[in-house]
Amino acid sequence: MAAVPTPEAAPRPRHVAIIMDGNGRWARARSRPRSFGHREGVEALRRAVEAAGELGVPYLTVFGFSTENWRRPPDEVNALLELLRLYVDRDLERLASEGVRVRVIGARDNLNPDILEMIERAERRTAQNTALNLTIAFNYGGQQEITRAAKKLAGDVAGGRLKLEDVSPDVFAGYLDTRDLPAPDIVIRTSGELRLSNFLLWQAAYSELVFLDVLWPDFDRAAMERAIAEFTRRDRRYGGIGGEASS
Ligand code: IPE
Ligand code: IPE
Ligand code: MG
Repeated sequence: MAAVPTPEAAPRPRHVAIIMDGNGRWARARSRPRSFGHREGVEALRRAVEAAGELGVPYLTVFGFSTENWRRPPDEVNALLELLRLYVDRDLERLASEGVRVRVIGARDNLNPDILEMIERAERRTAQNTALNLTIAFNYGGQQEITRAAKKLAGDVAGGRLKLEDVSPDVFAGYLDTRDLPAPDIVIRTSGELRLSNFLLWQAAYSELVFLDVLWPDFDRAAMERAIAEFTRRDRRYGGIGGEASS
């Protein structure tokens, strides 16, 4: 993954990343427990994957659980972990047969063995697929990912496998969990919050940020289309002087 893409990038988004936020507020508005919102959030994830396929977006990355989400009450954390399990159990075979390649990014060292096994199974089962790349950021934090990459890189330098003078943004990006993915063209956040919350900090260097006033359980293809339409109106300059000015 190139650290800073070139201005010739096609106007169509190749990689859409989504911060799926607002499940709790959606449930509260219906006087239901937060876990009800998370369950509906899984339905919205299914719609998002379908929409990405229909709209010809080859890479979709979703923020499912952050390293900071462990701060939530244990009941809620367990409900979220259980939902990941349910999603993989119910959808893996269908995703696999539809040509979806599933990847999971995030820290793996503090995960329960059964969750780890499930993640590895999903990745293995879909490793040959190429129709749509679905990446789930799970137990993911951008700062932690960058720190892990820096540690590994430092180990390679210390071990003589990498020369210090060869370290560049592209080489560094090869140490990130996203090493096989292009940089996101758009980062969408639902629920009206205007922050990244530690999501893809390195990778979003030149992403277009699109904030939607939709709570995640209400997300659908129309919302995805609105975000993509907004993206196509943007002038991505990458520090240059822009498409219209330069032509
Ligand atoms: C997003 O919804 C789901 C996760 C963070 C896992 P929230 O649970 O953050 O919902 P709000 O932001 O409290 O409404
Ligand atoms: C970001 O949402 C994490 C996910 C969507 C998985 P949060 O709801 O955790 O973010 P904050 O706490 O509002 O920043
Ligand atoms: Mg939230």
